[in-house]
Amino acid sequence: MQDVLRPGLFAGKSVVVTGGSTGIGLAIAHAFKRFEADVHILSRKPEHLAAAAKHLAGAGLGRVTTHSVDVRQADAVAAATKAIGPVDVLVNAAAGNFPGPFDALSANAWGTVVDIVLNGTANVCRAVRPNLRSGASILNIVAGYAWTGAPGVAHSGAAKAGVLNLTKSLAVEWAPIRVNAVSPGPIEGTEGMKRLADDLGLRPAIEKAVPQRRLGDPDEIAQACLWLASPGASYVTGTCLVVDGGMDAKGPFGDLLTGG
Ligand code: HXC
Ligand code: NAP
Repeated sequence: MQDVLRPGLFAGKSVVVTGGSTGIGLAIAHAFKRFEADVHILSRKPEHLAAAAKHLAGAGLGRVTTHSVDVRQADAVAAATKAIGPVDVLVNAAAGNFPGPFDALSANAWGTVVDIVLNGTANVCRAVRPNLRSGASILNIVAGYAWTGAPGVAHSGAAKAGVLNLTKSLAVEWAPIRVNAVSPGPIEGTEGMKRLADDLGLRPAIEKAVPQRRLGDPDEIAQACLWLASPGASYVTGTCLVVDGGMDAKGPFGDLLTGG
């Protein structure tokens, strides 16, 4: 087998990144552009889409196609994917989340997060399905609290757990289309960390909880996505690649001897 992460790896390939206008999704879009993919970004706010397009053009990576779409709106998602045409890689990174105990979440607050994260991912998968080319793969961005208790983010945890299960179900139902998840740890400079680390003053505690004692970089998530979407991962499906500086590996006893 040829080594895979080489220049031009995704030339001629069509890559769709939901939530690709900011944060981790933007880093993923940037990475696929570096390997010459045709990148389509789907998210809601035109100002985010315009800034992302400018950012990528400013980095010398050329044009991306942007689509102002709310992933909760199945008809709008279907229209956008029809306009996009054939797809080689779909990355579902769009998400909504805000910290708050379950008792403080109204039915609409709960439903909003579940609708964006779980139903939105399903909407995009369903719409893209007929357009998937031979060799295509899907990556769903989840979070470590998809398989642990998620105090303060029960809505997001439940939704990500659903996405993790959808990942496995579609890997089975849609084989040989590959469907995998990537689970980032706490990632520097993102909206998610602004809400959880900065607004709540939890940054020092979060850094201490990571065995590598630092937050991750968005590009460290993008690198994992490149590999999972590449032919080098051709027999990898239905799994979740955890990219979290060792946070998940640590478990309940991890702090006892390391002082974490
Ligand atoms: C309690 C809240 C709330 C808050 C909103 N709501 N913010 N409840 N605490 N902080 C409630 C509202 O009162 C309303 O319920 C319901 O949620 C819907 O709110 P809207 O503002 O109408 O929703 P909408 O405009 O659709 O916006 C969606 C959103 C918003 C999720 C609320 O924050 C957003 O657009 N987020 C996108 C960006 C984002 O969240 N990025 C972070 C991803 S990080 P009522 O009952 O009043 O009608 C991530 C994981 C990080 O996913 C993991 C780190 C380890
Ligand atoms: P972010 O920048 O807020 O990314 C979320 C993206 O989704 C934005 O581009 C947003 O753009 C888009 N979006 C939100 N609601 C949408 C909707 N209804 N329809 C379409 N697009 C929508 O946050 P991030 O922290 O980088 O998160 C990216 C992904 O990584 C998410 O899946 C998140 O759960 C996951 N994650 C993040 C961390 C972390 O440390 N940050 C850790 C674990 C997992 P618009 O607002 O313009 O629509």
